[in-house]
Amino acid sequence: MLEVKELVKSYGTGKNQHRVLRGVNFTIHKGEFVAVMGPSGSGKTTLLDCISQYKPFESGEVLLDGVDLGKLNEKEMAKVRNEKIGFVFQDFMLLDGLKIFDNVCVPQVIKHENYKSMEKKVSKLLKMFDIDKIKSKYPAEISGGQKQRAAVARALVNAPLMILADEPTGNLDSRSSEAVIDAFITAKKELEATILMVTHDSLSASYCDRVILMRDGVVNGELVRKGDRREFFNELMDVLRKLNGGE
Ligand SMILES: Nc1ncnc2c1ncn2[C@@H]1O[C@H](COP(=O)(O)OP(=O)(O)OP(=O)(O)O)[C@@H](O)[C@H]1O
Ligand SMILES: [Mg+2]
Repeated sequence: MLEVKELVKSYGTGKNQHRVLRGVNFTIHKGEFVAVMGPSGSGKTTLLDCISQYKPFESGEVLLDGVDLGKLNEKEMAKVRNEKIGFVFQDFMLLDGLKIFDNVCVPQVIKHENYKSMEKKVSKLLKMFDIDKIKSKYPAEISGGQKQRAAVARALVNAPLMILADEPTGNLDSRSSEAVIDAFITAKKELEATILMVTHDSLSASYCDRVILMRDGVVNGELVRKGDRREFFNELMDVLRKLNGGE
């Protein structure tokens, strides 16, 4: 589904050049829910920005369903970003002037989808994530957890190949975080969604199938959940303590 090969990215020029991604390699398979974890500054957000081609990189490849995204022109890439990738951000990025229903419609409107089919898809997602009752409210009138579930619905409305989420629970309390992670799990089960989620939260990550560990711009290891979520959580806590230098 997603293949990242030898991705190298630096910021700055000349003497001030700072290499942030130093040959990142990994693969995400269809239907997987994968977390990326690692210390602050290890390059996680930069990695997502390079995957979606928001930021240029020096070398390496990003293949989405076999398509080399680095070879697409700006117009083709805009279409991929709207139709093939769903984005979820830490600060929701909903449009304040639109009701929740209309916010979730936006990617469909950009795609010129007809109203009837759009209404059907949006209603189904709002019900799935238990936010249909607030569909006529504006973002300022609802909770953070509801906003983020609306953002997850928006990310899924065009049935993308995958979801990229950067700290989707970073601004939420633990109960709202749980509801958002639940939305991802439902999307995986009912829509076979493929999700790549950057997170600092071991509890959120413990619901994933796999955790990719980053450190200093490379993949430093990965953990696969074999069975019980609680065991996986404990395993993650141990590994992260070591990864963060034993703090
Ligand atoms: N636009 C930029 N210009 C220059 N340096 C940058 C830029 N964006 C990020 N960096 C640097 O690149 C490194 C990686 O940043 P990045 O935001 O990818 O880290 P991160 O793993 O997402 O961190 P966090 O967990 O704090 O979100 C950091 O050292 C950061 O200071
Ligand atoms: Mg970040």
